[in-house]
Amino acid sequence: MAPPKVDAAYLKEIEKARRDLRALIFKEKCAPIMLRLAWHDAGTYDAETKTGGPDGSIRFMDELNHTANKGLKIAVDFCETVKARHPKITYADLYQLAGVVAVEITGGPSIDFVPGRKDANVVPEEGRLPDANQGASHLRDVFYRMGLTDKDIVALSGGHTLGRAHKDRSNFEGPWTKDPLKFDNSYFVELLKNDSRSKEQLLKLPTDKALVEDPRFSQYVKAYAKDEDKFFEDYAASHKKLSELGFTKP
Ligand code: HEM
Repeated sequence: MAPPKVDAAYLKEIEKARRDLRALIFKEKCAPIMLRLAWHDAGTYDAETKTGGPDGSIRFMDELNHTANKGLKIAVDFCETVKARHPKITYADLYQLAGVVAVEITGGPSIDFVPGRKDANVVPEEGRLPDANQGASHLRDVFYRMGLTDKDIVALSGGHTLGRAHKDRSNFEGPWTKDPLKFDNSYFVELLKNDSRSKEQLLKLPTDKALVEDPRFSQYVKAYAKDEDKFFEDYAASHKKLSELGFTKP
């Protein structure tokens, strides 16, 4: 599909949609699943073939039915209410804007948002998103394919400061932090704690544990646990990169 014409009227709609998303996310307490939606739309990018990425393709049932996307129809449906009020905005822009607002409204860093993404009409093949049961080399395979770095992998994994796993969606259960509706650096603080002494068994996926076990990853985990400002700065930069994979700005 052709890219949207990013003129003054389009930018005005983006600002209106931003306000609607703030109100919706506040009311429905759905920041975590909106962030996960933005990430799963973008995280299919393949730098070599320039396919996948933040192109709105996750709106199609074909892609929502991929195992990794279980539960995300809830977020697609929330976004549909905003799309109905601002039909001009592409799904690709809307989902990425929802991710940015989700982070900001829960206390995270401001993330620069540039509109103009075009919608795809094709769905990427299944299997491009990471598998939580694997380790460091799998994470590198998947994120390097997108054109991202070790630092991006760790910073973006900090997105697990929000939300929880649901047994019926991923076969994992529970939140990563004590306050899953607050975006802060507690994911990294908890990751470095020794589980056996804590009462409230927080979730650690095998891929989360890999970040502590791999020395090239763990340097960032330690830095972010110690310095929230550093985490926010790196997270905002990595999130922007993720949200603009394969996107040539208008
Ligand atoms: C949830 C895996 C990276 C944001 C989940 C869940 C899994 C998972 C298994 C639980 C889903 C459920 O049961 O509802 C992974 C793996 C990653 C990864 C293997 C590889 C590094 C990311 C990134 C972000 C992110 C990069 C965002 C920047 C989230 C959020 C939730 C979540 C916000 C909570 C959703 C909710 O509460 O409904 N992830 N994830 N994840 N993920 Fe990730």
